Amino acid sequence: MSFLDPARGPVAIARGARTNLALLALLAVAFLTGWVAFAYATAPARWSLVLHAGGGFAILALLPWKSMIARRGLRRPQPGRWASVLFGVLVIVSLVAGLLHSTGVLVYIGPLTAMDFHVGAAIAAVPFAIWHVVARRVRVRATDLSRRNVLRGGVVVAGAALAYGASELVVKATGAPGAVRRFTGSYEAGSFEPRLMPVSSWLFDAIPVVDPSVWRLRAGGRSWSYDEIFVFDDRMTATLDCTGGFYSTQEWAGVRLDRLIGQPDGGSIRVVSSTGYDRRFPVDRARTLLLATRAGGRELDAGHGFPARLIVPEGRGFWWVKWVTAIEVDDLPHWWQPPFPLQ
Ligand code: HEM
Ligand code: HEM
Repeated sequence: MSFLDPARGPVAIARGARTNLALLALLAVAFLTGWVAFAYATAPARWSLVLHAGGGFAILALLPWKSMIARRGLRRPQPGRWASVLFGVLVIVSLVAGLLHSTGVLVYIGPLTAMDFHVGAAIAAVPFAIWHVVARRVRVRATDLSRRNVLRGGVVVAGAALAYGASELVVKATGAPGAVRRFTGSYEAGSFEPRLMPVSSWLFDAIPVVDPSVWRLRAGGRSWSYDEIFVFDDRMTATLDCTGGFYSTQEWAGVRLDRLIGQPDGGSIRVVSSTGYDRRFPVDRARTLLLATRAGGRELDAGHGFPARLIVPEGRGFWWVKWVTAIEVDDLPHWWQPPFPLQ
C-alpha cells in the first residue's frame, strides 16, 4: 500500500473506518427496532418503525462511501471475500424488500411477502455481519468522536430523516399503494371476508387436517368436544396484524377463556397448538382472550386454525395460536418464553 495514493492513504483509511463503524451502529439500530416493532400491535410499533426507517435510510446514504471501501477491499486477495459479498447481497435484498413493502410497489412475491424477504434476509445476514466485523476489524480511535465527526454523523442522520420524510410524502401524494399502510406498516386484506384473509404461519407449521369428531380440547381440568365448544357465542371484532405484512379485521365468535379456565390467581395461561406451537399469557388477560370457532359467522377453515384458534386483540399474529388443543394454567410466569417463537 502506498501512502501517496490518496484513495489508500491513512486519511482515507480512517474515514473508511468511521463509515464502517457508523454502518455497524445503524445495522444494530435497524435490527433491534424491527423486532421492537414486531413485539407491539400498539403505538410503540409506530415509533420504533420511524427510527427503523431512519436507520435504513441512513444505511442507504452511506452505501456510496461503503462501496468505495468494498472496492478497495475486493482488490486485495483476502480469505473470505465471498462471505463479505454474500453479506452485501443480503443487506441489499433486505433494504430493497423493505422499500418494496413500504411503498407498496411489490407486497406479495409468490407465496411469500416482501416482508418475509425483508426479515428473512436480515436474519440470514446476522452470522455474516458478525464474521465480517471480526474478520475485517476496525480500529476505534478517540478522534472518531471529535466534534467534527459527531457533526458529520448528525448530517447523515438529518439527511436520512429528510429522505424518509420525503419518501412518505411522495408515497402519500402519488397515492402509491403504500399510502394506506396501517401504523405497523401492514396492508389491509380480506377484512370481514374471512375467505379472502391470507393464510400464514410463524415459521414452519404445516396446516394440520383435524377431524372435529375426534378433536378434544383440554382446559379447566376437563376435556371438551368440538360441539361443546361450538355452542358458546362470545363475540369480538379484532384485527389480526401479521408480521408477514398484512392485517385483517373479522368478527370472531367462540368462547372467552375465563369461561373455560375461570380466573386463576397466579402463574400464566399456556395455549398449545396440535403442532406443538405454544404461547403464554398473563392470567388477568383470560377475560380479554377468545378461543374462536367462527369468523364472520362461519366455521374456521383449516388454514385459519380449524377447529379453534386464539384471538388476541392488541397482539401481533404470532400470538394468535391456531389449531388449539390445550389451555393450561401453571405456576410459570407469562414472560417465561422466548419473546418470539422459535418454531
Ligand atoms: C439489516 C437490517 C434491516 C434494515 C437495514 C432494514 C431497513 C428497512 C427499510 C429501509 C425499510 C423501509 C422503511 C420505509 O420506507 O418506511 C424497512 C421497513 C420495515 N422493516 Fe426493516 N430493516 C432491517 C431489519 C428488519 C427486521 C429484523 C424487522 C423485523 C423483525 C424489520 C421490520 C420492518 C417492518 C415491519 C417494516 C415496514 C415499515 C413500514 O412499512 O412502515 N426490519 N426496513
Ligand atoms: C452494510 C453493511 C456492510 C456491507 C454490505 C459490507 C460489505 C463489504 C464488502 C463487500 C467488502 C469487500 C470484501 C472484503 O474485504 O471482504 C468489505 C470490506 C470491509 N468491511 Fe464491510 N460491509 C458492511 C459493514 C461493515 C462493518 C459494520 C464493518 C466494521 C465495523 C466493516 C468493515 C470492513 C473492512 C475493515 C473491510 C476491508 C477494507 C479493506 O480491506 O480495505 N464493514 N465490506
